[in-house]
Amino acid sequence: MVKANIFQGVEKKNRRAADVAATDAKAFHAVVDSRRSVRVYANDPVPQEVVDACLDAALKAPNSSNMQTWEIHHVVDPVKKQALIEACLSQPAAATAPELFVFVARPDLWKRNAGWMLELLNAQPKVPAAAYQYYKKIVPLAYSQGPFGLLAPFKWLFVNLRGLRKPTPRGPIGKKAVLAVAEKSSALASAHFMLAMRAHGFDTCPMEGLDSLRVKRILGLPRAAGITMAISAGRRAEEGVYGPRLRFDAKHFVFRH
Ligand SMILES: Cc1cc2nc3c(=O)[nH]c(=O)nc-3n(C[C@H](O)[C@H](O)[C@H](O)COP(=O)(O)O)c2cc1C
Repeated sequence: MVKANIFQGVEKKNRRAADVAATDAKAFHAVVDSRRSVRVYANDPVPQEVVDACLDAALKAPNSSNMQTWEIHHVVDPVKKQALIEACLSQPAAATAPELFVFVARPDLWKRNAGWMLELLNAQPKVPAAAYQYYKKIVPLAYSQGPFGLLAPFKWLFVNLRGLRKPTPRGPIGKKAVLAVAEKSSALASAHFMLAMRAHGFDTCPMEGLDSLRVKRILGLPRAAGITMAISAGRRAEEGVYGPRLRFDAKHFVFRH
């Protein structure tokens, strides 16, 4: 059993001052409100510095255990790009886009990334013991499911028995659940990316209407990878947005307890 528990907090002497950069709520909401899924793009390319800034924003998304089990593939090679358009079912949001990206979940890289986290922690001046414990013990407990997922039934039994007595994290159990953890983080990176593009005056369309097996082949990805979504980017054509934004009433989705 892991004694140091990161969920119990970090001693005050080890905490950092919160980042208090000035923000502009009006500008943020203008970005959110003007982001639309764009299906037809103008020909203007997206400058490399904008692409770089948006990739940087994507990689700053919150992510599970800071494990960063994600990848972003910018497909620029004309042959691969054409293949990707076809794998995206040749939908106009892909076919007319100057730039195509694929956001990928990589739960299979958890060991590598846990090792990198330990290296990063080692380079920090003061690191609470709980942080090391987290990446040495808790992360392996969460991510490893044994060969062929054989550990999963034992994990299920353990968490359900423990959960009878006290609050217990119920997952992830099984490879699909670990993939879901990585997909959540990759989806958040996708959202950061799309909002960043909008902030720079460009537009995007997320796409899950695609053949994920073909996309993996084009990008040379293993079966364990998850194609979170493809995202096209560019400047919207004059009639590039198909209609007004339609949303159901918030009362169906927002609850106070
Ligand atoms: C995960 C995901 C997958 C999507 N897949 C597609 C797609 O394959 N093709 C497409 O034209 N739009 C796709 N969309 C865009 C949605 O249709 C769109 O977000 C929704 O209709 C709301 O419109 P808005 O983004 O303009 O607010 C997808 C959106 C998300 C979040």
